[in-house]
Amino acid sequence: MELDKTKIVILAFFFFFFTGLILLFYLVFYGFLAALFTFTMWVMLQTLSSDIPKYRDRISSPGLMISPKPDTALEFYFNRSDSQSYSEYVTTLQNFLESYNDSKQSQNIECTSGKIFDQSEAAVKKACRFNLSELGQCSGKEDANFGYSKGTPCVLVKMNRVIGLKPEGEPHIQCTPKTAWGAVKQLEEGMVNINYFPPNGAMDLKYFPYYGKSLHAHYLQPLVAVQLAITPNGTKEEIAIECKILGSPNLKNQDERDKFLGRIAFKVLMSE
Ligand SMILES: *[C@@H]1O[C@H](CO)[C@@H](O)[C@H](O)[C@H]1NC(C)=O
Ligand SMILES: *[C@@H]1O[C@H](CO)[C@@H](O)[C@H](O)[C@H]1NC(C)=O
Ligand SMILES: *[C@@H]1O[C@H](CO)[C@@H](O)[C@H](O)[C@H]1NC(C)=O
Ligand SMILES: *[C@@H]1O[C@H](CO)[C@@H](O)[C@H](O)[C@H]1NC(C)=O
Repeated sequence: MELDKTKIVILAFFFFFFTGLILLFYLVFYGFLAALFTFTMWVMLQTLSSDIPKYRDRISSPGLMISPKPDTALEFYFNRSDSQSYSEYVTTLQNFLESYNDSKQSQNIECTSGKIFDQSEAAVKKACRFNLSELGQCSGKEDANFGYSKGTPCVLVKMNRVIGLKPEGEPHIQCTPKTAWGAVKQLEEGMVNINYFPPNGAMDLKYFPYYGKSLHAHYLQPLVAVQLAITPNGTKEEIAIECKILGSPNLKNQDERDKFLGRIAFKVLMSE
């Protein structure tokens, strides 16, 4: 009996001793790994600038996006006689245009139209004023419902921000009604008329280039409002619209794989 007790004590001693050693080993081992990871991360972060992406082979061509952006796959369904059916679109537009409000643009400056606004020398980058009045009937000033109650819904088209992009030529947005996806039915003539604000859907070069979020804090991207005038024959029919950026040799709009590169398609179904 005595012997067994001593054995147990010795066994227990070795057990705790070795477990302790193993624990200590792993503690040191993982501690070392964590330190190494933190150190390499720190070294890498030192080499990055928060203003300019480090690895870019070339300045990419921007995609197009619209506002409001319906949840359901860029399809606008509304009843012009039922304000509830389009209130979400109106709210989205109001919120989106809030940053373009005159009161928010007091620091923004008046820039020379038609010219790239190069500020690479300036430490503090200025933002060019985008006058909301240029969006005409889609500015929300004249028509608080952005045309949705009149059967002339407004959709804003914007180009995604790409740091350093300098469009060439005279970029402008052009939209065309298309045959509905899937359906092999030609769209009837005159179902929809398209109006642009500013005229011709122009995107002025003065809004480029963009210098990035931290350097160019007040930057506002130029907008083009597309107003669809849906004729009585156009109601009850789904209308597909495709908008493209045209007139600028360095902005792509034909990529097979990326259907948002320089273009965007959406559908509208209006009832009354
Ligand atoms: C559109 O809304 C009006 C008014 O609420 C209603 O009378 C009409 O039936 C609606 N049309 C459709 C297609 O739902
Ligand atoms: C601009 O902001 C002012 C005050 O912040 C507000 O009263 C006005 O309705 C806004 N205008 C537009 C067009 O949103
Ligand atoms: C915007 O343009 C309208 C019409 O051209 C003009 O009356 C208004 O003063 C302009 N607003 C600003 C802030 O420049
Ligand atoms: C609407 O459709 C009817 C019959 O399909 C046609 O006679 C009429 O010309 C069309 N109106 C317009 C404005 O296209």
